[in-house]
Amino acid sequence: MFETKTVILTGASSGLGAVLAEAFARRGANLALFARNEDGLRETEARCQKQGARCLVVVGDVTQPADCERLVVQTVSEFGGVDYLVSNAGASMWARFEDVEDVSIFRKLMETNYLGTVHCVHYVLPHLKQRQGMVVAISSIQGKIGVPLHTGYVASKHAVQGFFEALRIELDGSGVDVLTVLPHWLRGTKLRQNAYGKDGDRLGETSKRHSKESISLEDCSRAILKAMAKRKRELIIPFKLRFLPWLHLIHPKIVSWLVKGKVKTEDEW
Ligand SMILES: NC(=O)c1ccc[n+]([C@@H]2O[C@H](COP(=O)([O-])OP(=O)(O)OC[C@H]3O[C@@H](n4cnc5c(N)ncnc54)[C@H](OP(=O)(O)O)[C@@H]3O)[C@@H](O)[C@H]2O)c1
Repeated sequence: MFETKTVILTGASSGLGAVLAEAFARRGANLALFARNEDGLRETEARCQKQGARCLVVVGDVTQPADCERLVVQTVSEFGGVDYLVSNAGASMWARFEDVEDVSIFRKLMETNYLGTVHCVHYVLPHLKQRQGMVVAISSIQGKIGVPLHTGYVASKHAVQGFFEALRIELDGSGVDVLTVLPHWLRGTKLRQNAYGKDGDRLGETSKRHSKESISLEDCSRAILKAMAKRKRELIIPFKLRFLPWLHLIHPKIVSWLVKGKVKTEDEW
């Protein structure tokens, strides 16, 4: 189903984006790989080319509308159109709100996670309409529930959820589908080391380990491709987490208690 289709993938220089890129490459897709770190993108490109995929590397920043426009223009010029936008670029934080000394991290998280997605969708939408394509938004389960130490990240992912809930309705009948992906913790990514700490600096290397409940990137990307093939609206990973938004509606206090315990486990180092 992805054979000769063109996929724009943001945040392709590490983590989930890099693993997703390889999964698309194995299925014969053409790939436009976007992020700021060219070395990381080139590594992803090399792995995808080994699978026989055609790749275009575009270095840029999702917070800059002109970079997102250039990404789309270059992709269309290289491959003739766009079938899928996978909006995956993202950043996180790890600090209690009261301890935050540099409040600018809240703006940075909004600009990356929310506006970065809006910029890409804005420029790619006319092309997706031409091909009855699809937008895949890598959100987070934190787009539906609050999680301590992540206030700015949670807010940005709630914004992503709201944007796509409304856009999906506007696009009804246009042939373009929207899939929102809400994973639990993923292991093997740089999200945590690149997360903003209370002073506004990146956390950097930590000995923090993910709990056993975290998901592998391979399992996550397999589930995403399957959901794309079925043109699903929403994917919550792992399966058992699908009850959480419902429980949150009925017993929000229980969810708060559960989440507090989970973050405590994740916070051990
Ligand atoms: N890790 C988790 O536990 C988890 C759980 C749920 C959802 N997610 C979501 O999964 C997505 C991928 O994150 P990940 O866990 O794979 O983390 P990651 O390894 O840190 O990957 C993040 C990617 O986003 C790119 N990026 C960040 N800011 C950017 C910007 N301003 N412009 C362009 N690219 C930018 C990074 O590349 P450059 O630095 O090279 O620009 C990198 O390629 C994110 O949206 C995240 O919120 C992660």
